[in-house]
Amino acid sequence: MAQLWGGRFTKETDKEVYSFNASINFDKRLIDVDIMGSIAHVKMLCKQNIVSETEKESIINGLNSILSDVKEGKLLITEEYEDVHSFVEANLIDRIGDAGKKLHTGRSRNDQVALDMRLYSRDYVTKTKALLITLLSEINEVMKANIDTYMPGFTHLQKAQPITLAHHFGAYFEMFRRDVLRLDDIYERMNYCPLGAGALAGTTYPLDREFVAEQLSFYGPTLNSMDSVSDRDYLIEYLSALSIIMMHLSRFCEEIIIWNSNEYRFVEIDDTFSTGSSIMPQKKNPDIAELVRGKTGRVYGALTSLLTTMKGIPLAYNKDMQEDKEVSFDAFDTVNNCIHLFTGMIATMKFNNEIMEKSAMNGFTNATDAADYLVKKGMPFRDAHSVIGRLVLYCIENNKAIHELKILELKSICDMFDMDVYDAISLETCVEKRLTTGGPSRDAMSKEIEANDKFLNKYLD
Ligand code: ARG
Repeated sequence: MAQLWGGRFTKETDKEVYSFNASINFDKRLIDVDIMGSIAHVKMLCKQNIVSETEKESIINGLNSILSDVKEGKLLITEEYEDVHSFVEANLIDRIGDAGKKLHTGRSRNDQVALDMRLYSRDYVTKTKALLITLLSEINEVMKANIDTYMPGFTHLQKAQPITLAHHFGAYFEMFRRDVLRLDDIYERMNYCPLGAGALAGTTYPLDREFVAEQLSFYGPTLNSMDSVSDRDYLIEYLSALSIIMMHLSRFCEEIIIWNSNEYRFVEIDDTFSTGSSIMPQKKNPDIAELVRGKTGRVYGALTSLLTTMKGIPLAYNKDMQEDKEVSFDAFDTVNNCIHLFTGMIATMKFNNEIMEKSAMNGFTNATDAADYLVKKGMPFRDAHSVIGRLVLYCIENNKAIHELKILELKSICDMFDMDVYDAISLETCVEKRLTTGGPSRDAMSKEIEANDKFLNKYLD
């Protein structure tokens, strides 16, 4: 047990208590940012004449040597230390002696861990965003290639009106685009440096917090020292954004699972992204989509967990906050992995355009357009709705689609039908005449794709 405290204790910590309290097993992944923060801190201490130039050099060299030894596997981060901060400090003192004992001047582990978590989360926000941009590019490619691929659009999972595959994917483009914007927004709020807040009430040393913030590419220091050490809002916001991303991915996966089923066959997931059954030789299962859908639960869990952890904590730091790490790290990894694999899955997926188009032709997806046809001939919409309702019933009884009816059959239901009805309710008309902004027509979709390109270019530059 190598700990940073002990002076005021007369007995050793109980072994089980020590390991219950320790966080080294999971906070060891903060080593890079912990050392980065310490280097910024010691540079500032030197600038403020709190440590000498020689001490600063020796501390920085010591810290860098610890980091490279850990990376090369020469130095192991073991459970002998309470947390990553103790590990680094103890090893520093071992390596450079007394100068190492000055690193923690004007600092507490409370503001140190607050800094580490911000640096670490900030990096992940950037990674998540980059992965989303790759996914968005892939979605936009599918859109470009499928602007004329007709398929049924659904409500209540019942065929509703015809759309295109580009239009369907375009909906997900919007969702993930908002996710990117949400991350941008979160980054803006999280990018302030808590170091210098001390344990809770700042410090009497003449620290230059602006200097530290600038070195670590923060917009500036956080404003209130009590809040600095006890704020985990930025993590909660990030976990919320991650939960929303997973909700979007999960919906998309659900659709892909349905579309990949034998009943639909709209798409075929590539062999490289599918798995088999140990008993049923014919099976090719959409496990990746199912797992992404399934993992949504644990990401929501992380958000709920941290919200609950934080809800009853009085100011300022309390050890409860150590519980922010495992759930957050798990959520960071899970989501980034899911976005990455999901992107690969849709990039390799085959679309069965003919099947989709055929499916759009039946199920009365042109019923609204048939009603609109009568409206254009002068009938009030509510009456037209009722006429087409009867027409659909007639079709069901005679096992035909609306466009398969003879003109006399149509006229027997309503004499306002003329030969031009066939063109008015064709699949192409149903889609291409929907010119409203955001609609499925080629014209509207081309504009949407153009806007998507513009959005992506901003991020790809
Ligand atoms: N392992 C702790 C955490 O993750 C570091 C801060 C410890 N501070 C303290 N006063 N015990 O929150």
